[in-house]
Amino acid sequence: MELLFLVLLSLHIASTATEGDKEWCYLSQQCDLPECEEPRLWETVNAECGKDNQSPINIVTNKVKYKKDLKRFSFEGYENAQSSPWNIKNNGHTVKVSLDGSAKISNGGLFNQYKAIEFHFHWGNKLGSRPSPGSEHSIDGERYDMELHIVHKKESFSSAKDASNDKEQLAVLAFFIKIGAENEKYAPLIEKLNDVPTKGNEKTMAALPLESLIPPEKNLTGYYRYSGSLTTPGCNETVIWTIFKEPIALSENQMENFWKKLYFTEDKTLLMTDNFRPVQPLNDRVVYHSDGSILLSPANALLVAPTLIYLMSLLFQ
Ligand SMILES: *[C@@H]1O[C@H](CO)[C@@H](O)[C@H](O)[C@H]1NC(C)=O
Ligand SMILES: *[C@@H]1O[C@H](CO)[C@@H](O)[C@H](O)[C@H]1NC(C)=O
Ligand SMILES: [Zn+2]
Repeated sequence: MELLFLVLLSLHIASTATEGDKEWCYLSQQCDLPECEEPRLWETVNAECGKDNQSPINIVTNKVKYKKDLKRFSFEGYENAQSSPWNIKNNGHTVKVSLDGSAKISNGGLFNQYKAIEFHFHWGNKLGSRPSPGSEHSIDGERYDMELHIVHKKESFSSAKDASNDKEQLAVLAFFIKIGAENEKYAPLIEKLNDVPTKGNEKTMAALPLESLIPPEKNLTGYYRYSGSLTTPGCNETVIWTIFKEPIALSENQMENFWKKLYFTEDKTLLMTDNFRPVQPLNDRVVYHSDGSILLSPANALLVAPTLIYLMSLLFQ
């Protein structure tokens, strides 16, 4: 009896181990790695990926709800370069810069202070003659060219057990990136991509102020908010997402460095392209938005103008 139990236990351990060992990949890697699990099968790598509150999502703008708590963010240390150099790494899924936690955010409808621990990018490809967009979130079904994620972790937990179950453990700030004018502030970072072409490559570079990578603070009052997950396995459902309406601009030439200089592989066999997860069902969740735009969109102006005229007519009759 005891022996049977031990056999079953070791079988169980063995099967969990294989589950943990399965490799995940993006669809764009599957021809190269037929064994890897593409996004639709990520739940076989980690069951969390098959749950109901996953990211990214498509945001349907006429279904989002206004929430008045979604005020401005407070940024602390975003204006300074951290004191130690940045570590920039091609991890085989993206290019990721680790941060020392000295930059912090609060407010913006968050109940805690969060420290910036890393940022990374998602992008599409330019294998054909036109760029193919590769943001993770989409707005009314449209993707942007790229997406920047600055990952922040809650500053204080009452215990370690709290941390792993906390639905608000992480706050990710997501910025869309679109093709536009050349962005000089990105030049040092983009130049460094040349030094980390293949999986596992890692370099240091002079740190930049995080502020220099995102739109000016006055343009960050408009954003969407929902509860979701990491967009790679383990897909932990512990993320408060903020998706800013104002995009960052990079020139097409600058984007070429993401599309054509980075590889998924340890050799230069497979370009790192389309490293985004497809959108996930919203299910019972609601997407909220801050009332960021002071300027009315033309559609809103059409509604508001007659109302104002009507109210004024009441006032003056
Ligand atoms: C930022 O906001 C200002 C108005 O507050 C606007 O004129 C400008 O176009 C916005 N975008 C950028 C990229 O500055
Ligand atoms: C995700 O959850 C797993 C299991 O609870 C945990 O070990 C891991 O550290 C979590 N990852 C992050 C980034 O929080
Ligand atoms: Zn990401």
